[in-house]
Amino acid sequence: MKSLVAYHSRTGNTKKLAEAIADFLNADIEPIVSDTMGKSWGRLVLEALFKVHEEIDQTTKDPSSYDVVVVGTPVWSHTMSTPVRTYLAKNKSKFKNIAFFCTYGGSGSERALKSMESFCGKTAVGTLDILEKDLKSGEYVEKAKRFATKIQELQGGYLQ
Ligand SMILES: Cc1cc2nc3c(=O)[nH]c(=O)nc-3n(C[C@H](O)[C@H](O)[C@H](O)COP(=O)(O)O)c2cc1C
Repeated sequence: MKSLVAYHSRTGNTKKLAEAIADFLNADIEPIVSDTMGKSWGRLVLEALFKVHEEIDQTTKDPSSYDVVVVGTPVWSHTMSTPVRTYLAKNKSKFKNIAFFCTYGGSGSERALKSMESFCGKTAVGTLDILEKDLKSGEYVEKAKRFATKIQELQGGYLQ
């Protein structure tokens, strides 16, 4: 099974989780790069709420050549981050199967994951949310492994 992990990370949490998942899946990895460091927290909050499509750098991997694309985001304002919204808008017609993960401070992860699913109009084959504090303590590793195993097990199952 060929898999791609695409993620945005502003401060490194989602990157850490993305790399662990990509390792377990033996997947290619695509950072979704956007200059969000130059913007204030308040502006990012508003832009996420208003579903702004943030500008992102050109990505390099073609999602249509993967059996599954796993997309990761930090939770912003109880929804997906704006760079991930842009990535999904550009690529959603190219996904065969999708799975989603997010990192967050304390609330809104379920809503964020649902928003990604409904934005793509496709049911995810797996979802994972990890608290910032669990990333720091290392507690995420087992959950990331289980998430990757679940995706792999779907091969030969109902993956298209
Ligand atoms: C603009 C902005 C909005 C955020 N909104 C939420 C939120 O609604 N709920 C939450 O639990 N954490 C929220 N956070 C915290 C991030 O989701 C959390 O720190 C995440 O792990 C950051 O990932 P990163 O290091 O990959 O950028 C927000 C952070 C930012 C920058």
